[in-house]
Amino acid sequence: MTKKSQRRASSAAMRNVICGDAGAYLRSHDTPTDASFVTSLPDVSELRGQTLDAWRAWFIDTVALVAAKSAANGVAIFFQTDVFRNGQWIDKSYLCHQGAERAGARLLWHKIVCRVPAGSVADGRPGYAHMLCFARELPMTSGFTPDVIPDLGSMDWSKAMGRNACVAACEWIRDHTETRTIIDPFCGTGTVLAVANELGLEALGIEIDEARAERARRKK
Ligand SMILES: C[S@@+](CC[C@H](N)C(=O)[O-])C[C@H]1O[C@@H](n2cnc3c(N)ncnc32)[C@H](O)[C@@H]1O
Repeated sequence: MTKKSQRRASSAAMRNVICGDAGAYLRSHDTPTDASFVTSLPDVSELRGQTLDAWRAWFIDTVALVAAKSAANGVAIFFQTDVFRNGQWIDKSYLCHQGAERAGARLLWHKIVCRVPAGSVADGRPGYAHMLCFARELPMTSGFTPDVIPDLGSMDWSKAMGRNACVAACEWIRDHTETRTIIDPFCGTGTVLAVANELGLEALGIEIDEARAERARRKK
């Protein structure tokens, strides 16, 4: 399953990017005991040939798997944008809740990340993304940070997680958990990994597309 793995040092923090299927990797490997997750699962449009119902079931299963693989004192953070399909909105926050509940994880926070300036009409997609943080054991006793992130930040491709959202997620983990490894099992071109390293956190990425995995290894 794993085609290639490579370690790279960015300052002191390590980055390991594996090219392969995230579900297969997570099911067959123990994750570090100090791991939290920050990720953005692929949309139905990215999984060619899957029906909406099959993708929905896969999405919920995968959220449950990710939440179950986070450290007991860690969190799993999901960044997701709703989509309009077959005449209805698919609320990915709702799907995340179903997966987290299955894994016995509770919601610590739910932030809104503006994709367009508040008050303007977005074209075809919502003007916001959800960012949800779930924990299996960690209680929410402190760590209240802004609920609305006014600017997504830079993106180096259309499905990327905006840089400001990555910073907000990784800083929260650094400042409010004892976990020091960030895993992004759908790492794309590696924005989460690069931000984690910048903040002094170790980073593990998994990405099925070899070209993106290679970019994620090199991203600064
Ligand atoms: C929404 S994008 C995430 C982008 C990433 N956060 C970034 O900033 O570049 C989803 C990514 O998951 C990858 N992907 C799709 N199916 C996968 C799988 N089964 N295992 C691992 N990666 C997968 C896609 O190639 C895509 O890069």
